[in-house]
Amino acid sequence: MKRVLITGGTSGIGLATAHRLAESQSAIVINGRNSERGGQARAAILARKPDANVRFIAADVSTQDGVSGLLAAAMDGFGGPIDVLVNSAGGEFIPTLFHENTPEIVDRVIRHWLISTIYCCLLALPHLDDGAAIVNVASDAGKVPTPGESVIGAAMAGISMFSRTLAMEAKRRKIRVNVVTPSLVRETLTHDRIMSNPFSSKLFGKALQAAHLGVVDADDVAAAIQFLVGKDAAKVTGQVISINGGISAG
Ligand SMILES: NC(=O)c1ccc[n+]([C@@H]2O[C@H](COP(=O)([O-])OP(=O)(O)OC[C@H]3O[C@@H](n4cnc5c(N)ncnc54)[C@H](OP(=O)(O)O)[C@@H]3O)[C@@H](O)[C@H]2O)c1
Repeated sequence: MKRVLITGGTSGIGLATAHRLAESQSAIVINGRNSERGGQARAAILARKPDANVRFIAADVSTQDGVSGLLAAAMDGFGGPIDVLVNSAGGEFIPTLFHENTPEIVDRVIRHWLISTIYCCLLALPHLDDGAAIVNVASDAGKVPTPGESVIGAAMAGISMFSRTLAMEAKRRKIRVNVVTPSLVRETLTHDRIMSNPFSSKLFGKALQAAHLGVVDADDVAAAIQFLVGKDAAKVTGQVISINGGISAG
């Protein structure tokens, strides 16, 4: 039985990953800030797999206290070290041309994406089993310069470089660290926010036309995460994998 912690596990990619990992008798903690959404996500997992071992823990992973509290509560119930850490906490982001940003927006974006991911890895590290797997969810905005995504692109590129470097350090403990970078993922809150904004819906509407393999859904990304945390990827680390239906070659 694997012990799995998924930040941002109550919606979108994180929840789709929880559904998949619940199939293999894992003990799963899903995290988010909103308890109502957390309860609904837990119920959805149990509806599909009634004997799933799944807990919801409310915490804000953009703060050090939030991450510490999450880990303390998760470890309390696990009864052993963490085998799988998936960082998929999102936030309320709408693409914004750089000159329209404020220092406050810059701070929030860097904190909610880059700093939260680094905090989660840093504070989880002592609780990870040797041989554990980490997958950090970033975005193709960290690979492909995208108008409106300068700041979040910087955060996402930061997640990738951080993860690759951590992979080179953590391999001595046989801990693997990989990154998945979607472009736009349909049926997610992120998708709905982007497509409800006139500027970003125009931009991403064009991008989606280039997805000749089909527009990605959350389960497509979860499938890649499931591979990366599984034994078939036992020798894969430090990789940043685009999942975008062919929108770009990453
Ligand atoms: N969906 C896309 O099109 C897309 C494309 C590229 C990259 N990504 C990235 O992939 C990741 C997941 O995206 P998604 O679309 O699956 O997300 P989503 O559906 O918006 O869900 C976000 C999840 O993160 C939680 N969350 C947000 N802020 C949090 C915080 N500070 N602390 C703890 N939990 C937090 C949310 O719950 P609460 O709100 O209750 O906290 C929810 O569980 C994000 O980093 C996103 O930027 C998504």
